Amino acid sequence: MSKGNTKGFTIWFTGLSGAGKTTLAHKVHEFLVARGIMNLEILDGDVVRTHLSKGLGFSKEDRDTNIRRIGWVCQLLTKHGVPNIAAAISPYKEIRNEVRQMVGNFVEVYVKCPLDTLVQRDVKGLYKKALAGEVKNFTGVSDPYEEPDNPELVIESNRETVEESAQRIIAKLEEMGFIAPKEHKYSKEEEEEIAKRLESLGYL
Ligand code: ADX
Repeated sequence: MSKGNTKGFTIWFTGLSGAGKTTLAHKVHEFLVARGIMNLEILDGDVVRTHLSKGLGFSKEDRDTNIRRIGWVCQLLTKHGVPNIAAAISPYKEIRNEVRQMVGNFVEVYVKCPLDTLVQRDVKGLYKKALAGEVKNFTGVSDPYEEPDNPELVIESNRETVEESAQRIIAKLEEMGFIAPKEHKYSKEEEEEIAKRLESLGYL
């Protein structure tokens, strides 16, 4: 339960727009709450850009500032034992590694998906605009994305289901000693608390 969960860690999703970072972040969130980890936070690039990073654009400088800000919050949360999940493109290796050093308990997850699949899906319609030159400096089209050299995990989001990917992330967290293996049996009160929390998050 949250009382016993004193280990902070950051799951850092990186990957192109539309690769599935946000969807996976929420599925992992759901799975962690189901494991009794209640005190966790998601920092999503799209959301962060509406407050903490409001006004920042997509130049290298602005992206670096955005990622450093997210990383700084992740570091604070981790330091205080609050597990957290960041989901931002974070296209530059150097800044991701800087955040890795700062955070310590860092689980980098590369959400990989071929560009042509992303262009086909184009959930937000941004690839079409980027390819037409209407959106400038679009990651993967007209702006760089540097793949991680040694991520803790690579998720091929076009080849596995969200559940499978989230399960692999949970297994990695267990392997790294950040969460306890599942055999723990919850008391009736704990199960009720978990169910209540999942409901309040809209997962039930
Ligand atoms: S990051 O580069 O600083 O990590 P972040 O994850 O916060 O980016 O924001 C990415 C989101 O902003 C994309 O999913 C997309 O919805 C939107 N976006 C708007 N313009 C761009 C652009 N030029 N490149 C990438 N994403 C963009």
